[in-house]
Amino acid sequence: MEKTCKLFIDNKPFEFKVEGDFFWGEPKLLYQQHDNVLSKMSWENEGFSCVKAFEVHDFLKLQESVKAILIEALKTHNVAVEHDLFDIKDYHNYVTTDALHNQVIAITRNLETSDFDFDIDALAKRFGDILGYGLTSYVEELKKSHIQIRISRPNSLDINPPHRDGYLSYWEDIVNVWLPIAGCNKKSSLPVVAKSHLIPENEVLRTESRGAKINGNIYNVPCILETKSGEIKMTRPNPKEGEALLFSPFLIHGAAVNENEDITRVSLELRFPKKN
Ligand SMILES: [Fe+2]
Repeated sequence: MEKTCKLFIDNKPFEFKVEGDFFWGEPKLLYQQHDNVLSKMSWENEGFSCVKAFEVHDFLKLQESVKAILIEALKTHNVAVEHDLFDIKDYHNYVTTDALHNQVIAITRNLETSDFDFDIDALAKRFGDILGYGLTSYVEELKKSHIQIRISRPNSLDINPPHRDGYLSYWEDIVNVWLPIAGCNKKSSLPVVAKSHLIPENEVLRTESRGAKINGNIYNVPCILETKSGEIKMTRPNPKEGEALLFSPFLIHGAAVNENEDITRVSLELRFPKKN
């Protein structure tokens, strides 16, 4: 069934069409309030916070490594790019069709941490020290670590729907990490719904996993259409380069519309399970 997903980002209305079967859940809170990886944080009730992730030098190294991966992906699809002239924010000037973009993200969604020039375990330790829990980069159920480059072109629907990662079993007991790489600003960075990890399932209208289609693309995560308090109201925490947005996998997030006219937004997402 086709529905219109209406939401607000920083008070501005947006809408897009979603295909899927929507239902209200059981009267149950999925966010575990006891011994959660966020339990020791003053911001636990908000469900998210921006924290320092890198020294300048290490951030620039990571940014350079993402750039090299994008150039390689473009070369694979016969787009000639000169390394010194290429700026990540100009990606949309090289990738001018959805077909080519889909080929590029087929590569960037299947990366391993070894493809990047940075120490993922040092990052897991840094965030673990902040949260007061041991974290690991290894996701047992997937038998690998998770790292994905997210690319959002200007004037595009390169977005996933509002969702919670925690609906997928392997993301129940983790901390979500969103890292700005290039072009991330108040018009493009990831929107979240503050405190939404504390909303019980009977107050959430959603699809099943892999049950929502936007612009012809099916998403792994369920789409959340609305909550009992109505249309979804999101804000963009907008972490600066070198910072990370940490958040609960049950926090509603997504729909990262890029409102910049001429800047591609590139970010990284990582997920760190709590060590048992
Ligand atoms: Fe997500």
